[in-house]
Amino acid sequence: MKRQENKLILVTGGAGFIGSAVIRQLINHTSYKVVNVDKLTYAGNLESLLSVANNERYYFEQVDICDANSLKKVFATYQPDIVMHLAAESHVDRSIDGPSEFIQTNIVGTYTLLEQARQYWNTLTTEKKLNFRFHHISTDEVYGDLAHPDEDDNAKDSLFTETTSYEPSSPYSASKASSDHLVRAWQRTYDFPTIITNCSNNYGAYHFPEKLIPLVILNALEGKELPIYGKGNQIRDWLFVEDHARALILVATQGKIGETYNIGGHNEKQNIEVVKIICNILDEIRPKSTKYAEQITYVKDRPGHDMRYAIDATKIQQKLGWTPQETFETGIKKTVQWYLDNQQWCKNVQDGSYQIEKLGSNK
Ligand SMILES: NC(=O)c1ccc[n+]([C@@H]2O[C@H](COP(=O)([O-])OP(=O)(O)OC[C@H]3O[C@@H](n4cnc5c(N)ncnc54)[C@H](O)[C@@H]3O)[C@@H](O)[C@H]2O)c1
Repeated sequence: MKRQENKLILVTGGAGFIGSAVIRQLINHTSYKVVNVDKLTYAGNLESLLSVANNERYYFEQVDICDANSLKKVFATYQPDIVMHLAAESHVDRSIDGPSEFIQTNIVGTYTLLEQARQYWNTLTTEKKLNFRFHHISTDEVYGDLAHPDEDDNAKDSLFTETTSYEPSSPYSASKASSDHLVRAWQRTYDFPTIITNCSNNYGAYHFPEKLIPLVILNALEGKELPIYGKGNQIRDWLFVEDHARALILVATQGKIGETYNIGGHNEKQNIEVVKIICNILDEIRPKSTKYAEQITYVKDRPGHDMRYAIDATKIQQKLGWTPQETFETGIKKTVQWYLDNQQWCKNVQDGSYQIEKLGSNK
């Protein structure tokens, strides 16, 4: 038996969009054991893990990361080698409507998890202690926004690097920035072995239908309006979720302790471009008497809306050899097809949940 087969990764937020992609890859392509620690909020859906749920290396614990006692039991029971922390409130529009849950889960929850992980780590044998790592998964939104080509001819040259200073704009990004600071402080103060990744906008299968891409696909199919914030010229750097999951597993298992890695797709697109691309794909594979783009409408912009995000992913490419495998063109086709083929998943996760009224710029 290879040594890796004995190791266990504790994934928080594993029933969410990115966490479920990470767990499916860990179970299908590695021999790690995985314990998924998830509270199952509206955004957490065990249906996204049906393909691995019966695997003997997969375990699930319904636990809130703000609950210190339950976390203590989970650490004692599973004795993890690696923690990958993805649990979060993640939707910017919801953070504007009600920031409280974001402060609670993203800041207090990260603090509680860090403390329980550190107490557990303090009890480990020297060898296990040396190999332990806590990987905190964060967003490029902590950096604020970049110059936009509509306003600055040289904008294309400015990218977020690992040393860009933090300037979060929304309650969501401010709460994620706070959690990043906590993680770095635990590393610096306690020598607790942490790694942070900051990633751009993800898209792909199993994405909760309040976010831009699944929302556009589903609204388009239902003949509803496709409302675009402002002029729709906000730029995001899109990354296929399976590419993100591959990067996260690489960082968690081979990244250097104390480092930060930016992860991005080299796919800068204006929101309106993304919506038009989806409409064109639907025109091709699900044609109807009118063009889907005729459903596009423009609505008042989101307050404090960031204009442009773009990642410089040179470090992870050079240090760990990661590059995305999908282009936006190939990834978005797969995504549209997945939503066409999985209408039942969409219905199930939407039942009784957040009203899909707004078209967020993405996350
Ligand atoms: N989606 C993106 O484009 C993107 C980009 C960069 C970084 N991120 C970060 O990646 C992580 C995962 O994002 P996602 O899009 O998969 O989010 P998601 O909203 O789809 O999933 C979040 C998961 O966390 C769980 N959760 C929420 N509160 C919890 C709590 N208190 N205790 C335990 N579990 C809880 C939910 O049930 C859900 O399963 C987040 O930290 C997010 O900030 C996301």
